Amino acid sequence: MADALAPNPHYRYEPKQVDAIVIRPFDFDFPDDLDPVWAPGARVRSLMFNGFSLTMPYLEPYLIKSMQAASLHIKEPRLLEDIRAFNGQEARHYQCHRRLNELIKKNGYPELAEVEARLAKSYERLLRKPLETQLAYNAGFETMTNGFTRWFINRRRALWGGNCPWVSSFWVMHMVEETEHKTVAFDTYMAYSGRYLPRAIGVFHGSFHVLGYGLIAMVAALKKDGLWPRPRTLWEIVREVGSLLWNVGPYLLRGLLPSHNPRCDEDPEWQKAWIAGYKTLPPNTPVPLLDTRDPDIPVPFTTKT
Ligand SMILES: [Fe+2]
Ligand SMILES: [Fe+2]
Repeated sequence: MADALAPNPHYRYEPKQVDAIVIRPFDFDFPDDLDPVWAPGARVRSLMFNGFSLTMPYLEPYLIKSMQAASLHIKEPRLLEDIRAFNGQEARHYQCHRRLNELIKKNGYPELAEVEARLAKSYERLLRKPLETQLAYNAGFETMTNGFTRWFINRRRALWGGNCPWVSSFWVMHMVEETEHKTVAFDTYMAYSGRYLPRAIGVFHGSFHVLGYGLIAMVAALKKDGLWPRPRTLWEIVREVGSLLWNVGPYLLRGLLPSHNPRCDEDPEWQKAWIAGYKTLPPNTPVPLLDTRDPDIPVPFTTKT
């Protein structure tokens, strides 16, 4: 459904921080016997991130359809090119999440298929909402991923140290690409509508919809393990969700400012070094694994920060 005032006549494209949004061979060769509890000693955290992973093959195809619908209303060629690259990255992300999710179900949690059925219906409903609502949701979700990137990079030793290198690398690299394309959903909303209130609502809608389904999936997995609702499990959930909100919440609050623009946030140095290092490799080099045994989990290239 198109909105009467779209596209926004006041919209002007502004330069991004990154030179380009690169569509890489984003593919991680997860072992067939992958343990769904891939963070030893942190079952709740593993199952929480598995829950978030479960949402992605529903969220990201929806994002692509919604952004494609918006591109029919947009004339700015640089934004159209950004949308094309955004969709290329998101398509690779969800294909990889789908493979991970199949292994998580096969290796312990087939019950998660019930949550997937609910996710499929929920995103079908969202695609029937006005395009302005969809684009505000998209911009809101992408505001949250910017916070996730900083959390994942700045706290990488605590979150990923010693954990399964495939799953850890996958999550960190997914968020690095999220931040590489952090301007696109916001710009698309601004080019289409630009109205403040729907965008502010979208910050909550896009973030808590995904987080909520992720936590529903986590609880389903904990029930399967017979650990729900034990006091110790509840305490661990409070710690893990509290850490998430502490690290990501400020980015949601900043997203609510009327002057918010994701290009004003400087990208983390680790991320800039990774992007610069990858650029020196031959074209189409697969995204490499991170060394989660190294206490610093360094950028996996020789380029210095
Ligand atoms: Fe993504
Ligand atoms: Fe994204």
